[in-house]
Amino acid sequence: IPVDPFDLVIFGATGDLARRKILPGLFRRFCSGQMPDDARIIGAARTEMSDDEFRDMVRDAIREFGGGAYEDDALDGFLLHLGYEHIDAKGDDGWEALKRRLRDGLVRAFYFSVAPSLFGSLAERLRGFGLADDESRVVVEKPFGKDLESARALNRTLAEHFHETQIYRIDHYLGKETVQNLMAVRFGNMLFEPLWNAQYIDHIQITVAETVSVGGRGSYYDQSGAMRDMVQNHLMQLLCLIAMEPPARFEPDSVRDEKLKVIRALDPVDYHHIVRGQYASDDNQPGYRAHVDNPRSVTESFVALKCHISNWRWAGTPFYLRTGKMLKGRASEIAVVFKDAPHSIFGPDAGTHRNVLAIRLQPNEGMTLDVTIKEPGPGGMRLKDVALDMSFADALGPDAEDVPDAYERLIMDVIRGNQTLFMRGDEVEAAWNWTDPIIEGWTRRGEVPKPYEPGSSGPEDALMLMHRDGRRWREIK
Ligand code: BG6
Repeated sequence: IPVDPFDLVIFGATGDLARRKILPGLFRRFCSGQMPDDARIIGAARTEMSDDEFRDMVRDAIREFGGGAYEDDALDGFLLHLGYEHIDAKGDDGWEALKRRLRDGLVRAFYFSVAPSLFGSLAERLRGFGLADDESRVVVEKPFGKDLESARALNRTLAEHFHETQIYRIDHYLGKETVQNLMAVRFGNMLFEPLWNAQYIDHIQITVAETVSVGGRGSYYDQSGAMRDMVQNHLMQLLCLIAMEPPARFEPDSVRDEKLKVIRALDPVDYHHIVRGQYASDDNQPGYRAHVDNPRSVTESFVALKCHISNWRWAGTPFYLRTGKMLKGRASEIAVVFKDAPHSIFGPDAGTHRNVLAIRLQPNEGMTLDVTIKEPGPGGMRLKDVALDMSFADALGPDAEDVPDAYERLIMDVIRGNQTLFMRGDEVEAAWNWTDPIIEGWTRRGEVPKPYEPGSSGPEDALMLMHRDGRRWREIK
């Protein structure tokens, strides 16, 4: 179903994110028929470029990042929706011309795909030159600040020009199909929710493992590290969706109120319960410090931590979070590990077994539920875990292939005016409020991350974090 006609202005349209994600995503929505005929996408950036030059750039970007399988005619058709205006984000150049391109009476959205230091001047000019009104929407990208103070400042700046209902803060993990599935699994089934608490759940593991290095983003990443880059936002969102109370409705503030309560109920993390790592070099490749061109860097490319949510539902159930680059596999997974049965009628020789519900976010999206059955054969009542294994691709067939990527879905939600999958300002601030003391503690103690081998599961200490508690991480495959 096509969305309403819109004008979407992308500031920073020549940048990496626009070329890799935003524009190819819009193209795929065009191919799926969701973009109305009179939708218009206007690139805006510092570089001087004609409409045609911009279209050529977008054509190249889609060829490179668009994921293949499309007709050239479709690409030509999409490019007709595009235009470009050169603007000076901090001056007056280009703004009147950009305004002339906008049409009255349509949905109007402005995507800030630029450094946060420009949010203020863009917002001010959008209002000052009369491009934006109380109905317009602005989309902002992470990093949304680098700590609580800077996030507050950004929120204040945006609030000077826009209402909270106009601001769409992107965390692309919320746009992932399987992340939304977490809510469907929890709140659409009777099976899980009655067991979803500290009485039945031993612990929960959230892993977002990547095989990639920091690549060409060294200068950003070295100022950020895994805590700011992944934990404060993506892992935090996963934690919220797994731990929150059922919202009354699948509506923006119902969902976001519940997420906020989870973040606010998080205990400060004991520094003994956090492990930082940094990938070392090996025979084949340089290590993190060479990648970021900073021989003394003490920024972490890996974090593992244990945290607690102090509320009625979760008191006593630890949550273990880990994420890192250059690990042995690309695997994002949430594992809900249930407690042992209270008494084994089969005696000590049968072994102890646990139910584990694992939700694979990527790749091979799906779910497995480990259940205990009898080991086949005459050898008495010995128990064994087997997995009820469901891959969404197998279960859903061709429907699973037509799933929009996170950015596509989120941009369409902006046009529809649905904020459910976007972070509210207070949520982001609460997340920083929790992460800030962790990062400050590292700095205060002069902590140096533990080196780990590329292609491993992270530093040994991360394994110990679990072993000390008599638990173990699930294998990264
Ligand atoms: C980004 C981080 O937000 O998420 C990157 O800045 C990270 O460092 C990426 O690689 C991971 O996203 P995905 O969708 O590939 O899991």
